[in-house]
Amino acid sequence: MALLSTSRINLLPTSRALASGVPFAPKLALSLPPQGDHHAAGPRSDVVPKWAARATGSVNVSRVSAPPTGIFSQRFFSTSSRALAAAGNGSQVPDWTPYEASNADSNRTLSYFMVGSLGVLAASGAKSTVADILSNMAASADVLALAKIEVEMGSIPEGKNLIVKWRGKPVFIRHRTADEIEEARAVDIKSLRDPQTDEDRTQRPEWLVMLGVCTHLGCVPIGEAGDYGGWFCPCHGSHYDISGRIRRGPAPLNLEVPEYAFNDEEEKLVIG
Ligand code: FES
Repeated sequence: MALLSTSRINLLPTSRALASGVPFAPKLALSLPPQGDHHAAGPRSDVVPKWAARATGSVNVSRVSAPPTGIFSQRFFSTSSRALAAAGNGSQVPDWTPYEASNADSNRTLSYFMVGSLGVLAASGAKSTVADILSNMAASADVLALAKIEVEMGSIPEGKNLIVKWRGKPVFIRHRTADEIEEARAVDIKSLRDPQTDEDRTQRPEWLVMLGVCTHLGCVPIGEAGDYGGWFCPCHGSHYDISGRIRRGPAPLNLEVPEYAFNDEEEKLVIG
């Protein structure tokens, strides 16, 4: 059985293609030639003549190999899930086995060490931060210097008062006589509104140190006045005795005793 070979036509590259994908070759006529006239000039010379098909019963259909049209770039890499799946990498989890620790215990120890170290560092940083904040909030040296005042005890004769200013408030200093001390200590504290012994209010019996602020509404009482020979607040009529304890009037408490100390070497009274 004789086979007929057919010719091939290689179309030149075109710059356009139809929507169907067929290259657009306007100068190439693809219509069939007239029946029986296979020698006639015209397009579709690749169509097998009718006589050839009849003679053999087997026909090779010619194919047109059209080179790629247009300019394109080959795609070497794809991130589409379909392409990855086709390559066998679609939804595979990466293999982290080479990165796993060979010994779980040593790995745990390292983790504990790292967590502990970070905890110590964090605690240290927090401590220094709090210390800085507190040191900034603390009083400066000049303010601390004003926080204490010194009074020469020799400048206050027995039986006299001295008023000094400390932290913006008046401070009464009384150099008491022996009679005043005896009077102050003879009082029955059960009769007092704010029970307090004279011993509790003084470090040395001859020296009485108090804030000169009335415990009612904050007026400054007058010394050596009132019904009890101590201090009298003229604002609302509070009477304090020679120990500064409230004896009559609206004031609820005794006059406050501030912090103070004696500097015997320099014979000074240090308040604050
Ligand atoms: S303020 Fe002193 S009695 Fe009222």
